[in-house]
Amino acid sequence: MSTALIILAAGQGTRMQSDRPKVLHELGGAPLFAHALRAGAALEPALRVLVAGHGAGAVEAAARALDPDILTVRQDEQLGTAHAVLQAAPALGDFTGDAVVLYGDTPFISAATLNAMADARAAGADLVLLGFEAADPGRYGRMIADGDRLERIVEYKDASPEERAVTLCNSGVVMAPAALLMDLAGSVGNDNAAGEYYLTDIVAIAGARGLDVRVVTCPEAETLGINSRAELAAAEAALQARLRAEALEAGVSMPAPDTVIFAYDTHVGRDAIIEPHVVFAPGVTVETGARIRAFSHLEGCHVSRGAVVGPYARLRPGAELAEGAKVGNFVEIKNAVIDPGAKVNHLSYIGDAHIGEAANIGAGTITCNYDGVMKHHTDIGARAFIGSHTALVAPVSVGRDAMTATGTVVTHDVPDEALAIGRARMQNKPGFARAWFEKLKNRKKNAQDGS
Ligand code: UD1
Ligand code: MG
Repeated sequence: MSTALIILAAGQGTRMQSDRPKVLHELGGAPLFAHALRAGAALEPALRVLVAGHGAGAVEAAARALDPDILTVRQDEQLGTAHAVLQAAPALGDFTGDAVVLYGDTPFISAATLNAMADARAAGADLVLLGFEAADPGRYGRMIADGDRLERIVEYKDASPEERAVTLCNSGVVMAPAALLMDLAGSVGNDNAAGEYYLTDIVAIAGARGLDVRVVTCPEAETLGINSRAELAAAEAALQARLRAEALEAGVSMPAPDTVIFAYDTHVGRDAIIEPHVVFAPGVTVETGARIRAFSHLEGCHVSRGAVVGPYARLRPGAELAEGAKVGNFVEIKNAVIDPGAKVNHLSYIGDAHIGEAANIGAGTITCNYDGVMKHHTDIGARAFIGSHTALVAPVSVGRDAMTATGTVVTHDVPDEALAIGRARMQNKPGFARAWFEKLKNRKKNAQDGS
């Protein structure tokens, strides 16, 4: 069955106390709505539709950056969840598959849960809703059900004391044939305590039409929605706990897992070692047997087998470390390929560069890649030896087996096997230092005597 996701993301999120739309706040390094999109990916959706409202321009741009094919629609006034779903109708067109309603602020719905809902549809249910047994039902909509047959959902504001005593609560997630969902959502009125078009009313409407409506349940943790900074922080803690547990389970060594911060998409291979206080931003792959030493920050990079990074290293987007490469303390690498066995061990900036196999980059070496307007490339050949404190003024290349003398400013290409040396010639002046300081001390003494 082909599927379309409808992700509701129009709400303001007043309780976030933020100028930013709620769904753009980050969880695991990705905007909140990205997690719903990722959860929905389990159903291999043919269409993704995001319903934006508050901060729509920024939300739509962020959505397209993550998923270039996503369709976006606007809900200019937030008149309720049924009204929000209806806004997706033009984007769905005559789509004949199922639609699944997910929420931009509800990041933890699992693939297993969505598959269980799809199974219920395959077993003949017309409409499937996702519920959970709430430890504290609070203000959730209550699901009035007979076994897994769902009769209706009553919103907290509209519920009687008996209905409020029900602990089976509505997550909001719905699965149904797209055309049926739109038909039902279009039949909903707003005669209720909130004056909103409740998506939850489609249950009773479907029941009255003799349709088969089922509830599938999931653990409450999956339905956690984010409404405040405190809930966002709690969700981050829950996500990190899960990502750490998954990494350990997959054979990654972490002596202090609670100090390691993962991104939602971090991939670490078996037998890699992640030392304490390492932070992963999105887009990182660390292969098997690599070691990321303490206090390193990695983003958008690839670390191959047996490479060693840090302590205190920063790998920025486009850093590509081949097998056995070494990047040491206080080194920043950006958009640069470090070939097998090459070493950049101390206090360097390597940007927009290619470092050849087994090259050795001396302490304090800097690629001067930016002229104030454009970025330029530096190429270092295999086995080159770059002396400490070399400045490589890009675009420039150093040949294979070449070397640069300490402190050289490399302004033009260095041939293979050559030595580049470009620094003022040093000389010694015997006895000068002693005479100089005597002169200065006398000058100071005379000045004090005169005052
Ligand atoms: C909704 C459900 C409730 C369920 C709860 C789970 C309805 C009527 N009620 O209540 O049964 O227990 O979620 O969290 O559906 N949104 C829009 N446009 C709108 C209204 C909402 O995009 O016009 C989005 C919000 O941004 C939010 C989500 O839909 O992400 C849910 O809306 P919210 O107002 O939080 O609904 P609840 O009152 O929590
Ligand atoms: Mg809510």
